[in-house]
Amino acid sequence: MRFDIITVLPGLLEGPFAHSILHRAQQKGLAEIHVHNLREHSEHRQKSVDDYPYGGGSGMVMTIEPFAKCIEALQAERSYDEVIFMSPDGERLDQQIANHFISHKNVIILCGHYKGIDQRIRDTYVTREISIGDYVLGGGEVASLVMIEAITRLIPGVLGNPESLAEESHNQEGYLEYPNFTKPSMWRDLEVPA
Ligand code: ADE
Repeated sequence: MRFDIITVLPGLLEGPFAHSILHRAQQKGLAEIHVHNLREHSEHRQKSVDDYPYGGGSGMVMTIEPFAKCIEALQAERSYDEVIFMSPDGERLDQQIANHFISHKNVIILCGHYKGIDQRIRDTYVTREISIGDYVLGGGEVASLVMIEAITRLIPGVLGNPESLAEESHNQEGYLEYPNFTKPSMWRDLEVPA
């Protein structure tokens, strides 16, 4: 599965993609993660990607053109199953949605910032809007990371022991994972149950 993430903060994503499951999935050739710096698609001298909102109000709005250029350049290379916008007012991410996404081959993920993005980007390109919970983050980057990890670990072959997927919380409807214990069997006055 290929993820193309469009962001103004590519550095924020580098570390997490270079470690643990996300790193292993890429090493095994099971996931491809490409981070695109939105500013590189700005024609502005200062590489700005935002402007004042029409109608006033506080905060800046991310402009159409850099997103349009980056998305269209990617779409000219391959077809995409989905263009996802990470947004606190999107559909709430859960295990079922993560499972659904593993049937996809290529997805573009847009990370917003500031007050939001020009609505015309959403109307023209976005096919799905995803939230990771009812709280507002500084931008979509951390949310995209959460979503990509939730999806990637479900791709067959990514986890060493696929049985752990079947057992864990949220995969069995209505059940949460049982408590786990390891050695020592007795720690202070707490014993592992028989
Ligand atoms: N961007 C800002 N807050 C977010 C959230 N809760 N989920 C997804 N994207 C976001």
